[in-house]
Amino acid sequence: MWWEQAVIYQVYVRSFQDTDGDGVGDLPGVTAHLDHIASLGAKAVWLSPIYPSPNADFGYDVSDFTDVEPVFGTLADLDALVARAHQLGLKVVLDFVPCHTSTEHAWFREHPEYYVWADAPANNWRAAFGGSSWGRDEQSGRYYLHSFFPEQADLNWRNPEVREQMTGAMRFWLDRGIDGFRLDALDRLMKDPDLRDDPPATHRPELPGDAADLELDHIHSRNAPDLGSALIEIRAAVGDALLVGEVYLPIAEAVPYLESLDVVFNFEELFAVGDPDRLRDAIEAGLRTGGQGWVLSNHDFSRLVTRAGVPNARAVTLLLLSLPGPVFLFQGDELGIGDTRMKGPEQDRNHRDPFRTPMLWDDNEPHAGFSTRDPWLTPSDPVPPAVAQQRDDPASVLSLTRNAIALRERLGAEQGRVLSSAPGTLAVERGGHVIAVNLSGSPAPSPAPLASGQIVLEARPGDGADPSVIPPHGGWVAKLSG
Ligand code: NOJ
Repeated sequence: MWWEQAVIYQVYVRSFQDTDGDGVGDLPGVTAHLDHIASLGAKAVWLSPIYPSPNADFGYDVSDFTDVEPVFGTLADLDALVARAHQLGLKVVLDFVPCHTSTEHAWFREHPEYYVWADAPANNWRAAFGGSSWGRDEQSGRYYLHSFFPEQADLNWRNPEVREQMTGAMRFWLDRGIDGFRLDALDRLMKDPDLRDDPPATHRPELPGDAADLELDHIHSRNAPDLGSALIEIRAAVGDALLVGEVYLPIAEAVPYLESLDVVFNFEELFAVGDPDRLRDAIEAGLRTGGQGWVLSNHDFSRLVTRAGVPNARAVTLLLLSLPGPVFLFQGDELGIGDTRMKGPEQDRNHRDPFRTPMLWDDNEPHAGFSTRDPWLTPSDPVPPAVAQQRDDPASVLSLTRNAIALRERLGAEQGRVLSSAPGTLAVERGGHVIAVNLSGSPAPSPAPLASGQIVLEARPGDGADPSVIPPHGGWVAKLSG
């Protein structure tokens, strides 16, 4: 399948390219830069939600599943984007949000039976961004379930009409040429039908979350035992389109989702990149599991440069891009954009804005070419050089990213194995190559099979000068002889 070893490039449409001068990115802006994505060697572009939305959660509060948010453009703009992408050999993956709708979606009033209701808050469930999961509807005086913001009412996937509506919407997009979906918040798709309380936590969670996560084991408010039945219907509706699941669970608990999905994100890896031991465990778990996708960054969490730490970011980029299976690259990862320090009123707006700042296209243009007027969000600060300035610099992060993606062809599809290596270092052998990085601050001996290896790519120029030693914060890929 086309996605098995693909690099999939995530576009956060609001922050990619503004073409109509309103300070917000749009679909024609994505189309205009598809050649940049193709030139990286990515095989697909994943668009963050493009649907009409009141923007309580920037597109993850959908008010119509079969149209385009006017600020982003029109259905015709999307058709043009898909046509251009396909011309360039890129697949197009849409973010689809099955778990909830905006409370401003017409269904909320016209089809209350599509949602989950109670006369009073029915249990102790906590919403992902804080507070109770039960919101009061002022009109009826009743309470509806919301796993995220109160503006995002959870759909009831035990109602067959909900399944029909949502799978119908997915088919609508497939008919327009879309190649797959990233399915949002899947572990929240179905909950305990008896709405039982989540019990007090007996262990620390393996994935970080909001404060409530430390107090409760979320065994009833997510990941219901019959959730797989909904996934089977989704799979039946979409044929062999790519289905990537955002399942916010440790990778081992996400495995059952792979009965119907192609890929789930590996969040353990995402949170481990700052700690070599945890990263080794996460990579080993991922290689064992298969079916999981490595994530450099996304729009919800601190960026790779910030999580890995500036000195190690290049080495971690090389390592993750050399692993088998799909890899998800968030716009700006190829430039080395880190988290932004928000200023003025922007500081209090959204706790995830620091990861969503506009793309940097050309340092010689106002706002680095993102927009002709003030962007909706101040560009990343401090900023790395823009695409135009990095493109032809062999030492840039952009060149490293492009070269590492090109190398994936040579590494093939072999799962590979983690080699034993010196403390603070990580080494993976696959496809006749060894990928070795040193995340410690001191030089470290390289792993055994490398004695006669030939360095084919360095995290930083000069890293492979002495292949028996991995320099601090450095690394390389070496081809094994024989
Ligand atoms: C996960 C998305 O990535 C995030 O941005 C969103 O807030 C929640 N799901 C709710 O849809």
